[in-house]
Amino acid sequence: MKGLQRLEYRGYDSAGIALFDGNQINMSKTKGKVEDLKNKSEKNIAVNGSLGMGHTRWATHGVPNDVNSHPHYSNSGNLVIIHNGIIENYEAIKTELSKRGYVFESDTDTEVLVNLIEEVKKKEKVKLGKAVQIALNQVVGAYAIAVFDKEKPDEIVVAKLGSPLAIGIGDREFFIASDASPFIEYTNNAVYLEDEEMAIVRPGKEIKLRKIKDDAVAYPMIQELKLNLEEIEKGGYDHFMLKEIYEQPRAIKDTYRGRLLVDQGIIKMSGIDDNLERFMNANRIIIVACGTSWHAGLVAEYIFEDLARIPVEVEYASEFRYRNPVITSKDVVIAISQSGETADTLAAIKLAKERGAFVFGVCNVVGSSIARETNAGAYTHAGPEIGVASTKAFTTQITILMMLALKLAKEKGELNESKYHEILSELENIPSKVEKALEANPLVEIIADVYKESDNCLYLGRGYNFPVALEGALKLKEISYIHAEGYPAAEMKHGPIALIDEQMPVIVIATKKGHYEKVVSNIQEIKTRKGKIIAIVTEGDTQVRELADHVIEVPETLESLSPLVTTIPLQLLSYHIAVMRGCNVDQPRNLAKSVTVE
Ligand code: F6R
Repeated sequence: MKGLQRLEYRGYDSAGIALFDGNQINMSKTKGKVEDLKNKSEKNIAVNGSLGMGHTRWATHGVPNDVNSHPHYSNSGNLVIIHNGIIENYEAIKTELSKRGYVFESDTDTEVLVNLIEEVKKKEKVKLGKAVQIALNQVVGAYAIAVFDKEKPDEIVVAKLGSPLAIGIGDREFFIASDASPFIEYTNNAVYLEDEEMAIVRPGKEIKLRKIKDDAVAYPMIQELKLNLEEIEKGGYDHFMLKEIYEQPRAIKDTYRGRLLVDQGIIKMSGIDDNLERFMNANRIIIVACGTSWHAGLVAEYIFEDLARIPVEVEYASEFRYRNPVITSKDVVIAISQSGETADTLAAIKLAKERGAFVFGVCNVVGSSIARETNAGAYTHAGPEIGVASTKAFTTQITILMMLALKLAKEKGELNESKYHEILSELENIPSKVEKALEANPLVEIIADVYKESDNCLYLGRGYNFPVALEGALKLKEISYIHAEGYPAAEMKHGPIALIDEQMPVIVIATKKGHYEKVVSNIQEIKTRKGKIIAIVTEGDTQVRELADHVIEVPETLESLSPLVTTIPLQLLSYHIAVMRGCNVDQPRNLAKSVTVE
């Protein structure tokens, strides 16, 4: 149950557990959180047994309810499965199995898969491992599965394509999970399955991997995990999100530690150093990402074009992958992803690689699918981000992208020495400025109380801070369910201004550097229409203070680095509003932390 709770960030609309007690399988499933499962199971099932599996679900096929929750039985009641991913051709398989007399309790593709395995096992007269392999060769889609056969209660068969799967290696015991967080207190050794690999896991035996397609033997690479327990617990904070907001000074430092050598005036990043030619010869950079990572990409567009004078396009991975984009071997694609598992971003990478582009990854999760699929990359080293709303991932991604841009700008001779050194040393100062920005927390809480009942919110920013406005709006809508929109401040008069009245809070990023006077004019326009103005300003600002209903000060910094501080009060504002509205901040409805389906 503890392990499942650690995985809940991946999906949390229903949960289930199955335990084999040596005699029979005890199963308990419920719509809702692991906490609900705990309450239900304590009453319903004995918790003894040496083999078991559990699952938290993010529904794809079939609404979240008790029946659609995993694990699923096969028709005979002998096989039990848990599954992440999507079986795309499940309808056709279901029709075929129905003709052969199979019946289905749930609406899930997973129940179809476990019955297909059962049918293969019966028809081909093979053991579970072989049956899983044959069945998987008939399905189209993505999966990480664990299957158990009551008739062979000393093994679990696992397989992976698209969704992650890790096997923790303990002392004559194994742990199978989507990531290492559930078993980190039991072992530091793990094997991450590659796509199209499967394994039969038996206690006391070595793990044997094989390829699903052709049965070829694959060799497990045992990795030593660096994760520690503290990092995945709340550490005194009420929510992971708040903890992660407060971790940002440390996280940004960890991102540039050993890379940003201010005294020597250099940036050392092996992923770039080893591939400098590819970057230097790039006609353009295409950034692919989703959600908050896409917003970090938008900030990077300003940085790369402004400092390194390289043309940049920022694409939603989901659009890029289906758009038949023009890509050549002269393009460098940068894929940004906290989890490193986002299905659309992964597909965009594969497409770009097929067309000859060099793909560079910016990921947080070490060893993730995207980190492995890219030609080179840089980890953000932010530490585990568990709150579903991305916070420290955003600021650390920008930190990496800034270092990359600075390095290229220097190599290309686009930045004069003094400007280069100025940005380098200011980047080193950012953690203390973020620390300072966090001091606004009590004030932000007061402002949150004033606007917590709002139905709508508008976020405005210009230049480097336009993506911050988008990110502020995304943070608010995803955790507080208030409708919010981010806009370039000047674009307001081309439509959104019609929304402004005395009910509309407008959050404006109006820091000193970068179109300040223009933003002040935009604030005047909002005031004229009686909108409520919450302004993010530079310390000591007096001009905006006269116009705005509330001002939140952030320390002064360079325009190109300002998103790293201006985003802080916006994160805190969404956090407090969501808490005051009684929302589940760390696990907002309908969302999942790793979006491993397209
Ligand atoms: C927003 C959020 C999502 C993710 C998006 C991409 O707070 O968390 O929008 O940013 O799902 O996820 P990654 O970065 O893991 O690829």
